[in-house]
Amino acid sequence: MALHMGLARLLPRPNIRPAGAAAAAETQVIVLANQKGGVAKTTTTLNLGVAFSELGHRVLLVDLDPQGNLTMSQGLNPDTIQQSMFDVLVHRLPMEQVIETQEVDIAVSSIDLAGADMALASQIGRERALEKALAPIKDRYDYIFVDTPPSLGLLTINAFVAATGVIVPVQTEYLSLRGLVQLENTLTMVRENLNPSVEIIGIVPTMYDRRVTHSREADEILRENFGDLVYNTRIRKTVRFAEAPVKGTSVLAYEPKGEAANMYRDLAKEVLRHGKKSRQHA
Ligand SMILES: Nc1ncnc2c1ncn2[C@@H]1O[C@H](COP(=O)(O)OP(=O)(O)OP(=O)(O)O)[C@@H](O)[C@H]1O
Ligand SMILES: [Mg+2]
Repeated sequence: MALHMGLARLLPRPNIRPAGAAAAAETQVIVLANQKGGVAKTTTTLNLGVAFSELGHRVLLVDLDPQGNLTMSQGLNPDTIQQSMFDVLVHRLPMEQVIETQEVDIAVSSIDLAGADMALASQIGRERALEKALAPIKDRYDYIFVDTPPSLGLLTINAFVAATGVIVPVQTEYLSLRGLVQLENTLTMVRENLNPSVEIIGIVPTMYDRRVTHSREADEILRENFGDLVYNTRIRKTVRFAEAPVKGTSVLAYEPKGEAANMYRDLAKEVLRHGKKSRQHA
């Protein structure tokens, strides 16, 4: 079985799924994770998701962060939300009951989620709550993007267990390679115990500023250490990413022809092209 899976990974993958074949292909669950705060996980979840949707894919966003920033950035107020991913994970509420349709479909968060780690801790199968919740609705989507909190706690582990791939946004200003090592160690544990196929499929340099030497250097160090796992597309620093969420929209809706929108369109094409950028795990 393990050998079979290893071989399957070597087979070429089609670049883009042919029209009409969507139902046949497996839904990709892409988790945006980095335990470091403020590296653009939420910004990337939303804008990459909307860019995939523009390309004709059926997209669901899942807000697994008690901060509820993804929920807010689609114009929804986490403070007034009655039922959220907390109820889905802890009380097994069917997921469709917390999905709102905005620019794309979004399964919403609320502050209750802050208690999910504790509430799940005593449950059997606590790491598989998200995987179980997604199973009945998965087929309705081609891509599910999951935003995670800045920690490697039970919520993020749930995301890794449900994932077909992990994308790591890394801020090029305060690069922390140590943080990436810790993330990889956690993924190794998840692979060994819970989900043998989860792996980092790509690293996105974010908040890149080519005029700043430190930013360029951080980008270079990232590429030296992680090779072609690092996407060619760099998400540059621009105030548009702070402006758009205030209006409750992605940058693609906020300024459709703008540079910020195009960066995420480029990233979407690259993610589609590369699929799993399989790297040998030593
Ligand atoms: N390319 C960018 N240029 C400038 N500002 C950005 C960029 N990307 C994101 N930001 C801003 O940086 C802040 C942090 O981004 P974001 O919330 O996406 O990070 P995060 O990793 O999800 O944070 P947290 O760990 O708190 O969940 C936000 O105010 C966002 O608008
Ligand atoms: Mg966030």
